[in-house]
Amino acid sequence: MSPVDVASLRPEIPERRRLLQRFAAVRGQTAALVRDLAPEDMVPQSMPDASPAKWHIAHVTWFFETFLLIPHAPGYRPIDPIYGFLFNSYYEAVGARHPRPQRGLLTRPTVAEVFAYRAHVDAAMTRFLETADDALLADLVPLIELGFAHEEQHQELILMDLLHLFAQNAMAPAYRPFRPAPARTAAPATWHRFDGGIDEIGADTGRGFVFDCEGPRHDILLRPFKLASRCVTNGEWKAFIADGGYTRPEFWLSDGWATVQREGWQAPLYWTQNDGAWQAMTLAGLQPVDDHAPVCHVSFFEADAFARWAGKRLPTEGEWERAARGLTPSGNTLGTGFLRPVAAEVGPGLQQMFGDVWEWTQSPFSPYPGFRPAQGAVGEYNGKFMSSQMVLRGGCCTTPDGHVRASYRNFFYPAMRWMFAGVRLAEDAA
Ligand SMILES: [Fe+2]
Repeated sequence: MSPVDVASLRPEIPERRRLLQRFAAVRGQTAALVRDLAPEDMVPQSMPDASPAKWHIAHVTWFFETFLLIPHAPGYRPIDPIYGFLFNSYYEAVGARHPRPQRGLLTRPTVAEVFAYRAHVDAAMTRFLETADDALLADLVPLIELGFAHEEQHQELILMDLLHLFAQNAMAPAYRPFRPAPARTAAPATWHRFDGGIDEIGADTGRGFVFDCEGPRHDILLRPFKLASRCVTNGEWKAFIADGGYTRPEFWLSDGWATVQREGWQAPLYWTQNDGAWQAMTLAGLQPVDDHAPVCHVSFFEADAFARWAGKRLPTEGEWERAARGLTPSGNTLGTGFLRPVAAEVGPGLQQMFGDVWEWTQSPFSPYPGFRPAQGAVGEYNGKFMSSQMVLRGGCCTTPDGHVRASYRNFFYPAMRWMFAGVRLAEDAA
C-alpha cells in the first residue's frame, strides 16, 4: 500500500467514522476468537459441513476483497489471485472454487500466510473506507454492512466447527476454561398466550441492516397460541430418553425415524454416558450435563419428536416472531463468555428468547411474499438456499452480541445438529 494521503482522510463524516470503527471491531473480534488456538487447531476439517478456522479467517477476508476492493478500490492488488479460487464458498457468479469437503487439505497457504492476507486486506479496506468518494461509499454501505454481518456469522461458525473438531479427539480439548454460570434451578415452564388474527412479520427496510431473507414485511394469519416461558432443558430431555424417545417410532416424522435408525442416535450430539452419568463435549471440554440448562445440539427431527412426546408442537416462525417482538434482542450470547447455554433466570415473561440456543421452528426456510434476491453474486447469499431447510430463531451462546433480532432467520437442514440448536415448545390456545 502507498502511504495514506492525510489530506484525503475524511473521518469527520460520522458515517465514515462509524464504518471504520465497526470494521476494526468486527475484524478484531474474529482475531480475538482464534488468538489462543494453535496452528494445528486451525487446519483440519472434521466433516464436509464444517470448515477449518483457517479457511473461515481467509474466506471472510476474501468477501471484502472480492465484493468491495477488487471492483471499487482503484489500484488494489490481490496478494495472490489463487486465493479467489481457494476461499470462494459458494458464489457461482464469482467462478470455480476449491471443493468444500476438501478444505482441510489446504495446508498451504499456511496459517501465517492467511494472517498476512488478512492484514493486507485490512489495510486496503481501512484506506478505502477513509478515502472513498462520499457518493460511492453511500452506495456501498449495504454491501459493507453485509460484509460485517457475514463475518459475524462466520465467528459463530468458527466456534461450532471447532467444537465438532475437538469432539473427535479423545483428549476432549477445551477451547476456553469452563466459566461458571450463576447456579440456577429451571422453574417449571409456564405458558404465555397470544391472540390470533392478522399480524405482520418481517423486517422493515431502511431501519438498519437486515439480511434480504428477513423481508419483505407482510401479513400472516395467526391462530391463538401459547409459547413456553423457557427452552426445553437437559433434565426434560433425559426424561424423553428414559421413556424410550429414541426407540418409539410413533413420535417421529418418517424422515426423522429413518435418520435415527441410520445414525444410531440415542441422545443429543456430543452426549456420552460415563458410569451412568451423562456428560457432554463443550467448548470447555467434557462437562457434566446440567439438567437445568437448555438442551443443545439436537436436530429438527429430534426437536419435533420431543414436542410430540410432550403433547405439544414446535412454534411457527411467525408465532416466534410475534412473541419476540418488542423484547430486547440480548441474552446469553458470545459476550457472556459462557460459550454454552445456561439455565434460565426465574422471572415473569419469556426467558431465553435471544441467546442460549437457536430455537427450531416448524417453518420451512422459504421466500416471504414479494422476496427478490439482489442482482449479482450477493443475491446468492440466502435466496438459493430456500429449499429443504428449516428456520431457527433467536441466536445462541456463540452468536456475536447484537447480531440477532426478532426478524432474524437462521436455517439448517433438519438432520443437522452441530450448531447450538434447541427447542421451545408451543401449543394451540383456545
Ligand atoms: Fe460465508
